[in-house]
Amino acid sequence: MNQKPIIALDFPSKREVKYFLEKFPKEESLFVKVGMELFYQEGPEIVRWLKALNHSVFLDLKLHDIPNTVKSAMSGLAKLGVDITNVHAAGGIDMMVAAKEGLIAGTKTGEKVPELIAVTQLTSTSEAAMHKDQLIEVSLQESVIHYAQCAKKAGLDGVVCSALEVSMIHEATEEAFICLTPGIRPKGSAVGDQKRVMTPADAKVIGSNYIVVGRPITQSENPYESYLSIKKEWNGE
Ligand code: C5P
Repeated sequence: MNQKPIIALDFPSKREVKYFLEKFPKEESLFVKVGMELFYQEGPEIVRWLKALNHSVFLDLKLHDIPNTVKSAMSGLAKLGVDITNVHAAGGIDMMVAAKEGLIAGTKTGEKVPELIAVTQLTSTSEAAMHKDQLIEVSLQESVIHYAQCAKKAGLDGVVCSALEVSMIHEATEEAFICLTPGIRPKGSAVGDQKRVMTPADAKVIGSNYIVVGRPITQSENPYESYLSIKKEWNGE
């Protein structure tokens, strides 16, 4: 097995991304995550550029709007050739179905439809805040499971979740339902603002399908070395 950890390109502009990627061998094909910070500065061109460099792209824009708008937006994102993208499950089943339809419509014949995953409850949302702000009365865990099941029903490929939620989500859906997990820290690295973290090796054991790693690679003195060591651990080598 040779799975790539997804590197979160949390940089303000292409200039910083370019500087960062120069620390990797040219021929090394990576899997990177582009989020709102970078996308809203550089626009779709940043995705085209990364794809042209032979990298896979998880475009983390967390769409949440009326079904028709999300469908059209997704069709455009599929045309960029993204490999994974996402929506908020709170947008509802109809919106998620429309998102998937948009991705299928925008994918060139013969190419793979991007994987579509849902955000359940943001990990920054506490149970108390969920009760107060969203008037959801069940526990945070029940809400996460409910959203994961809605995503599955809508035909999505999986969810973004904390590594600590993977087993319960796989149990409530199916083993093949993707659990993409951020909050990954190799032993001994700084936790930063992440509250609940897991090592790449433990994430593998509990069944994460993809891991997203940002600062332990982007802020490292030697990003390529850190990447290789995380990749090795993630692949159980
Ligand atoms: O630097 P770090 O490894 O903490 O970066 C994790 C990445 O995953 C960031 O881009 C962050 O926004 C994202 N993320 C997260 N927790 C979530 C969802 C996304 O850390 N629940």
